[in-house]
Amino acid sequence: MSEKKQQVSRRQFLNYTLTGVGGFMAAGLLVSPLRMAIDPVLKESSAGDLANVSLAVEDITTEPTRVDWKIDQIDGWYESQVNKSAWVFKDENDEIQAFSPVCKHLGCVVSWEGSEDYPNEFYCPCHDGRYYKDGTNVPGTPPLAPLDVFEKEVRDGMLFLGEAKPKGEA
Ligand code: FES
Repeated sequence: MSEKKQQVSRRQFLNYTLTGVGGFMAAGLLVSPLRMAIDPVLKESSAGDLANVSLAVEDITTEPTRVDWKIDQIDGWYESQVNKSAWVFKDENDEIQAFSPVCKHLGCVVSWEGSEDYPNEFYCPCHDGRYYKDGTNVPGTPPLAPLDVFEKEVRDGMLFLGEAKPKGEA
């Protein structure tokens, strides 16, 4: 069996070399814009993180208290600070409750005992929406769902809150 010796001509060698170098350079030019395009996707999201709301658990009473804090939000390339709020209290079982103040009707802000006519309830002034202390919407008022509940955790005696989710999912 005879082996055929393959000769590479100067022209072929130049063709292979230039194609290789050209392809390498083209790949280098594509990587940078591609990396920029998908960078936000590759970055770790802070959405699921819990934030320290600067409230000691021992200071939480049975009276719902409004707690405000800020989180850093990254939306694509845009970084900003977002204000967050919750109504926090301890229920009759000494469990910490943290409700979103956003009304489940059309998104106004609810207040604890916001109306003298409805003591011991959360009240939305926009359309007289009402919620019991456990966040459940009062039947016959505009809201059709309970207030959202924040994910929560206690670390070193401090309250940390995360995303507000529909009751039963937090
Ligand atoms: S927005 Fe709250 S009752 Fe309509």
